[in-house]
Amino acid sequence: MAATREIQDHYFREAKRLGYVARSAFKLTEILEKKSLIRPGHYVLDLGCAPGAWLQVACQHVGPASKGGLVLGLDLKSVRTPLRFCDEALITRESDVFKVTAGELLDLTNRRHFDLVMSDMMASTSGHHHTDHYQSIHLARRALELAGEVLRAGGSFIVKVFEGAEYPAFLAECRARFDKAKGFKPKASRNESTEMYIIGEGFVPAK
Ligand SMILES: C[S@@+](CC[C@H](N)C(=O)[O-])C[C@H]1O[C@@H](n2cnc3c(N)ncnc32)[C@H](O)[C@@H]1O
Repeated sequence: MAATREIQDHYFREAKRLGYVARSAFKLTEILEKKSLIRPGHYVLDLGCAPGAWLQVACQHVGPASKGGLVLGLDLKSVRTPLRFCDEALITRESDVFKVTAGELLDLTNRRHFDLVMSDMMASTSGHHHTDHYQSIHLARRALELAGEVLRAGGSFIVKVFEGAEYPAFLAECRARFDKAKGFKPKASRNESTEMYIIGEGFVPAK
């Protein structure tokens, strides 16, 4: 337990030192070290983006606005900007993923598709495993639904879920929409947490 706290303190200190607004930056960094899903000029949609650490990492990979890419972040809460590493290639909106439409998201970008949709969404945890699991699956399913409407063919998806009874069914739903979909647990994720990130590659649009 003490070792776990030490590791988490380490990530917290590193986030501060490097200028990230949260230690979750290291989870996305690990995912992107494993799979280079963001390239300069890409269009990235970040669902549940506050306080903005994933936005910062995404902006670093997308590059400056002059490269032509964009990061669009959405959250119930507002994101305090400017964020370090992000310039005018970042747009944030305060909104509920269950209320926003794919068309509204695309209208904000003047593009027809995103290259990557990622979701680190989480409702306030109840501490009750089943409740947290089902809530996370509910949010993840909405992320998958929106991804299905806004991703380009071959695009990618990253989504957080808390493992539990519905996890295999949700993984199968991801596999039905992507060439490959696999669960990944970053080292920066707390050992005692059941959170997993499903990474989908090679989006197959519905016919
Ligand atoms: C773990 S935090 C995300 C951290 C973020 N990835 C970062 O690196 O800074 C989860 C976020 O999901 C957001 N969220 C939960 N339900 C949502 C919903 N229905 N619509 C939009 N955002 C939601 C919460 O407001 C919260 O800010």
